[in-house]
Amino acid sequence: MYNMKTASRLEGIGEYYFSKKLREIEELNRLGKNIISLGIGSPDQAPHPDVIRVLHEESSKAGTHAYQSYKGSPVLRKAIADWYKEYYQVSLNPEQEILPLAGSKEGIMHICMTYINPGDLVLIPNPGYPTYQSAARLAGAAPVVYELNEENNWMPDFGEIKDLIGRKQVTQKSVLMFVNYPHMPSGQRPVRSLFEKLVAFAKENQILLIHDNPYSFILNEEPMSMLQVEGVTDTVIELNSLSKSHNMVGWRVGMLLAKAEHVENILRFKSNMDSGMFLPVQLAAAKALSLPASWYEQVNKIYQTRKKAIEVLLQELGCSFSREQSGLFVWARIPEGIKDGYDLSDLLLYQANVFVTPGGIFGTAGDKYIRLSLCAPEGKILECVERVQKAGLFKSKHHV
Ligand SMILES: Cc1ncc(COP(=O)(O)O)c(C=O)c1O
Repeated sequence: MYNMKTASRLEGIGEYYFSKKLREIEELNRLGKNIISLGIGSPDQAPHPDVIRVLHEESSKAGTHAYQSYKGSPVLRKAIADWYKEYYQVSLNPEQEILPLAGSKEGIMHICMTYINPGDLVLIPNPGYPTYQSAARLAGAAPVVYELNEENNWMPDFGEIKDLIGRKQVTQKSVLMFVNYPHMPSGQRPVRSLFEKLVAFAKENQILLIHDNPYSFILNEEPMSMLQVEGVTDTVIELNSLSKSHNMVGWRVGMLLAKAEHVENILRFKSNMDSGMFLPVQLAAAKALSLPASWYEQVNKIYQTRKKAIEVLLQELGCSFSREQSGLFVWARIPEGIKDGYDLSDLLLYQANVFVTPGGIFGTAGDKYIRLSLCAPEGKILECVERVQKAGLFKSKHHV
């Protein structure tokens, strides 16, 4: 018997929460529970029919099955540049400043592997997308969380971050900072003045700022890019994605936007990880990026209706929440009397057959919250309301 041990870099890295929880939900469904999941943010709507058509047409051609360029198809890079110009008013050189990715998640890992040495500092939002933390750890960094809270509108406290950096005595080390607005999980929208402050802070403290921007087209009137502040410079790398904006989450298409030098450095790592993306997928993605603005309106109309139903459910649960949230979720504070989001999530799962995500999986600052996804049809969300009422879990309502 071989005595294989997992590599020490995996210490402290657990299986992704949803990977475990979805197995439990499958098991409950097998037992006939018929769980309605408001957990993961995986759009249930299809991409635009023209996008599917391009995929079909291109994949029936003989010449589209070969290995592709590591830098992505020029057609897709041009489409990304045009999209950034049209919706964010940011000019990018498609040859040098754009790198197509298999989703924004892939980029998070690649950036860490490209720029982090053991002991370097990676600033992670708490609450925030769990992958920032695991990617930083896998790259050997010491992730340091900076806290976001409701009182601060889920925006960083620069004084606190300065202290964190100072305490770690990082003068000789690289510092990377992940930010993400619209923020997941809180739904906090991007604010121009915050972006300006972040860029100024990063420059002043020699921080490489990573802006993860996959939600800017979801329930957000004005999509914003961190690159709007001063274009592509040393300071900012932006990640974006077609997963949510174009209902293409399973296709795995995202992008990295940065100064040419960053793109080249990251490509040194990435080109050793994969061998390019299937060309028909890239061409279909280019089609998706050229859809008219009415596409986003249509997508958001559905989410708007669902959001109203989610708000009814949250009122039923006695949760408080802001109505000014962007992105694919609604983030809500649990009522007094319930210990934390995990307890509320379990209560709903086992007694009402409804799954919601406990806020604590995004960091301790999310302990008193739950996150509900808009990726279920309105009828299903309203059925959750009925299930909760029927289970009689929340007799007295204490809503904002
Ligand atoms: C904040 C955040 N960043 C990145 C991702 C990953 O997106 P993609 O599908 O583009 O890899 C997600 C997905 O849930 C997310 O919530």
